[in-house]
Amino acid sequence: MERRNRTQEYPHPFVHEVKLTTAQRIRGVVLGTVLFPIRVTLATLCFLLMWPVARLRLAGLCSEDRQKPVRGWRRWLVNEIVRLLSRGVFFAVGFLWVKVKGRRAGVAEAPVLAVAPHSGFLDMLVLCLTDLATVVSRSENSSLPVIGALLEFNQAVLVNRKDPESRKKCVSQITERLTSKGYWPQMLMFPEGTTTNGRALIKFKPGAFLAGVPVQPVLLHYPNKLDTMRWTWKGTSWLQSLWHTTSQFYTNMTIEFLPVYTPSQEEKEDPNLYADNVQKLMAKALGVPATDYVMEGRFPVKHVGGLSLPLESPARETLKLLDHAGLSTSQVQTALSRMTDCCQSGQEKTVSIDQLQQWLELSERETAAKICSLFSKKDDSVDLRLICLSISTVSGLCSLEDLLDKAFKLYDCDGDGVLTAEELAGLMGALVGAPQFNTANIYSELTSRGPANKEELLNLLTTDTTYQELVTVYLRPEGAEHEASSHHMANGKDGNHNGTMRNGNTVANKNAD
Ligand SMILES: *[C@@H]1O[C@H](CO)[C@@H](O)[C@H](O)[C@H]1NC(C)=O
Ligand SMILES: *[C@@H]1O[C@H](CO)[C@@H](O)[C@H](O)[C@H]1NC(C)=O
Ligand SMILES: *[C@@H]1O[C@H](CO)[C@@H](O)[C@H](O)[C@H]1NC(C)=O
Repeated sequence: MERRNRTQEYPHPFVHEVKLTTAQRIRGVVLGTVLFPIRVTLATLCFLLMWPVARLRLAGLCSEDRQKPVRGWRRWLVNEIVRLLSRGVFFAVGFLWVKVKGRRAGVAEAPVLAVAPHSGFLDMLVLCLTDLATVVSRSENSSLPVIGALLEFNQAVLVNRKDPESRKKCVSQITERLTSKGYWPQMLMFPEGTTTNGRALIKFKPGAFLAGVPVQPVLLHYPNKLDTMRWTWKGTSWLQSLWHTTSQFYTNMTIEFLPVYTPSQEEKEDPNLYADNVQKLMAKALGVPATDYVMEGRFPVKHVGGLSLPLESPARETLKLLDHAGLSTSQVQTALSRMTDCCQSGQEKTVSIDQLQQWLELSERETAAKICSLFSKKDDSVDLRLICLSISTVSGLCSLEDLLDKAFKLYDCDGDGVLTAEELAGLMGALVGAPQFNTANIYSELTSRGPANKEELLNLLTTDTTYQELVTVYLRPEGAEHEASSHHMANGKDGNHNGTMRNGNTVANKNAD
């Protein structure tokens, strides 16, 4: 019960469920059955009509000309047709009108619009009211039908997130465009980089702020009785979201243009600081907290110093699953110590779902598969050390000191009692239950205190104010939750001031993505 309450009160930005009363459900089914097919057909028609028009824009241009902003009829005529057709798509879906507050700044005043909160794909409607500003998209999308043509039409900046070269090129392209003094059209970015439930603003990515040019913050509001628009990590799927949206007579949307924000000299030099300050300003205008949450790989995490703490601790989720599967605490304990012994004896540490099922003596394979997916990106195998250590941590079966003792045995490969940077990353990942990518500054902090041994690490984790949160909140044993949960919550809510400030400083030396 305790655990449930905590997750409910906590402003978790990555879950959203459309909650319907019986009357709303019946109304939704009746209206949806009629409206959904009509609306989707109309929207698809408009969408398909855009395809050839969008292609027309760059048709017949050589690749060199395609790298420049298009001018003349290709710009105004084709822009206008595509804008009307895309407005048609959204009109069909139920956005009969859009309320606009504030004044949109031109490209000379603000080369980039920073739009938040990002709730779902229907947010793209904002483009129709910003003259189809240029966007940044994943290069994978350019091979999708219609979307690909629209991205080409938009002369979007494409980035392959997995390729560091492509990311570098993307940054230089964005900077070039933002500092082109009107040669390139205005850009529009969703600095959160992913969709949320809008109950908090997650950490802004620095992309829009790298060039140090003024930005215009833009807020998206959906003041509707039913919150059908949102589509995020967990909960309502995009199809359900579309169904619920189309089964309303209409959907309200308000776009609010805030005054242009001109960065200070300090902000120009530090895009992370600039991003944090704009995030705080927008959060304040929305009346929601500005938090440090980000999506890292497939999991939402919170940055605490150089650590990425998963928003939903995989170890706690695992304990719940094991509890459901009927394992008692002592059974869990026995299984853990057997697994630890196995890891220490130098056997293969990465195991398959079936092996995990055997280790934990689970009757259902499905439980083992779920546990795997909590810890591993690949889903079909998992490093036993992550499970052993992170579960020991939160199950309160041993003290932090004993835990580090165990951890050193598993991660200090040459057994000299001193960790390398890589070993520390592995060890912290196992304590937290998720891979760590930014542990370089913990390592330098640790080595500045003395040798990277167990005593120094324990000392750092228990005395450094940043990492105290890790120990007292994140690694806190299950059951000892009550007094700590208020602390945890305060931290989310308080993000406006203390939380983000602290993080802004410590994350500043992380590479800008
Ligand atoms: C590009 O594709 C990703 C999924 O691969 C999606 O989340 C994103 O919204 C797409 N962007 C555009 C502009 O269509
Ligand atoms: C749209 O907003 C108006 C107020 O501006 C409100 O009265 C109405 O109920 C809203 N519509 C829906 C579907 O929520
Ligand atoms: C930061 O938090 C401390 C207590 O944790 C509080 O006393 C202080 O007023 C807070 N500062 C701001 C700017 O919110």
